[in-house]
Amino acid sequence: MKVAPSILSANFLRLEEDIKSVVEAGCDMLHIDVMDGHFVPNLTIGPCVLEQIPLLTPIPLDIHFMVEGVEKFIDMYAGLKPKYMSVHIESERHLHRVIQKIRALDISPAVALNPHTSIEGLKYILGDIDMVLVMSVNPGFGGQKFIESSIEKITDLKEMIEKRNPNCLIQADGGITDSNILALKNAGLDIAVAGSFIFKQINRKEAIASLKV
Ligand code: DX5
Ligand code: ZN
Repeated sequence: MKVAPSILSANFLRLEEDIKSVVEAGCDMLHIDVMDGHFVPNLTIGPCVLEQIPLLTPIPLDIHFMVEGVEKFIDMYAGLKPKYMSVHIESERHLHRVIQKIRALDISPAVALNPHTSIEGLKYILGDIDMVLVMSVNPGFGGQKFIESSIEKITDLKEMIEKRNPNCLIQADGGITDSNILALKNAGLDIAVAGSFIFKQINRKEAIASLKV
């Protein structure tokens, strides 16, 4: 299991220290939540703060857009040279075009699904993407309770992926802890995003290690 700490749960006034702590603790990438106050009822930090991260560490960045009209945000964050950019299927009328735009920037495109969204809409786009992000809470906030039906969704998605694009990875985001990580692994999860579970613990090395099942 690869582990991506969500910096949404970091202390933004001590961001450098918090980022270093999870990088030194052995995480695989940093998950960055971008919100616009429209697609989700919250805001996070913008590119002028985030562009400092690549100067701090070469760790791969994984950007999760929770915004309306993602195209202009892709341009705004492309300078960070992230490994992944995830776009919500619910926010895009022209998802295929957006995916091509991300790919053209040499960034791996991913599609995110809200908890109520069925995997069926991925059928004809799965061959064009490198990752699916299954939201296991309603997006917008850290520290929420894991939605159990996400396990069934990941099981079904794994089956679809094996048939249509076996190289596509599955990422889950929200409410992930050491108590549900094994069930997620058995369902077919590749990358666990965890915010509060990692950042609320003093020993972040132990927290990350407990998710690497
Ligand atoms: C929620 C974000 C998540 C969030 C996860 O909208 O997408 O990345 O930070 O936080 P936890 O792990 O605390 O549920
Ligand atoms: Zn996220």
